[in-house]
Amino acid sequence: MAQVELVELTKVYPGEVKALDALTFTIPDGEFFALLGPSGCGKTTLLRTIAGLESPTSGQVRIGEQDVTRQSPGRRDVAMVFQDYALFPHMTVVDNIAYPLKVRGADRRTRAAKAAETGEQLSLRGLMARRPAELSGGQQQRVALARAIVCRPKVFLFDEPLSNLDARLRLEARTFLKKLQHELGVTTVFVTHDQAEALALADRIAVMWDGRIRQLGTAREVFRRPADTVVANFIGSTPMNLVPGKLLGLDPSVIWGARPEYLGFSAAAVDGALRGVVSTVEHLGATSLVTLDMDGFAVGVVVPEMDEPRVGTDGWVIQQPGRVLLYDAESGQLLPEDIRDFPK
Ligand SMILES: Nc1ncnc2c1ncn2[C@@H]1O[C@H](COP(=O)(O)OP(=O)(O)O)[C@@H](O)[C@H]1O
Ligand SMILES: [Mg+2]
Repeated sequence: MAQVELVELTKVYPGEVKALDALTFTIPDGEFFALLGPSGCGKTTLLRTIAGLESPTSGQVRIGEQDVTRQSPGRRDVAMVFQDYALFPHMTVVDNIAYPLKVRGADRRTRAAKAAETGEQLSLRGLMARRPAELSGGQQQRVALARAIVCRPKVFLFDEPLSNLDARLRLEARTFLKKLQHELGVTTVFVTHDQAEALALADRIAVMWDGRIRQLGTAREVFRRPADTVVANFIGSTPMNLVPGKLLGLDPSVIWGARPEYLGFSAAAVDGALRGVVSTVEHLGATSLVTLDMDGFAVGVVVPEMDEPRVGTDGWVIQQPGRVLLYDAESGQLLPEDIRDFPK
């Protein structure tokens, strides 16, 4: 097991595409680290550079205090699961899973036992004698996961490994992966463009944009206090309310930011609450997303199903202390806590 350290890591592809822009950060030993960002922001490039499949233009990759920047992939003791599985088509499932053990010289009995155990954990029992072409995409992806897990490397590198599973299986695989990573304590870099997946799995999240890190923090920090309006827009299953306004008395332009989950709702007038008219109600299950029209601005609030109002009625939005953020209107950066007031 080992920490992963990146020092001023830069990758420029031919054609002047700067996929990684001087990235410097450390992933401590045993951490589940998610790299979250939209398509094309450099996530795969970073994983491949850590794995040694891509060499950086400048900077360093260090694994367990050792500079591995010039080391071949095989010597780095990392396991990568690719977006597109990369299974051996001529081998059975059990042989695919056992392959890394074979490379390391494990005997036949050990290989069979470990492959069977790992296959079982990933619900692959009954499929062990098949070849990849005889499996669904989701099953193939689970074989790829099993193959990475089976030899307990120093570092797991996962490139959107769950994106081809159907919704139900994806949740199961997610829970399994989290539990397994916790048990094994293997340092894990998990790439995803799905913010819900990152929030659910990660100890810490780096939000990546155009080859740079916009915010790095615990899942809770990134959810509660997005560092800028881009991150605020990207994180959360219901979009964060971002309403432009002015700070009373001071006159700077700000953006009022509040998560629908962190706002309260009342059907009766409440002191200090903001009045609006309910324009839509969307069912989320045990809760509903209620959107209110407030002088031309739409503000969303998540409301327990029993408190769900009717469309067209008046409603009051209650702000929770410490849960409402202000962003600078020009730079989009989060403003310090002590600049408090209310928009417009
Ligand atoms: N082999 C390559 N040659 C040139 N450009 C590449 C290559 N691989 C990726 N890129 C470019 O680098 C950027 C980052 O790509 P990638 O790391 O695949 O992003 P992500 O995984 O976040 O979608 C993109 O602009 C992409 O087009
Ligand atoms: Mg990618």
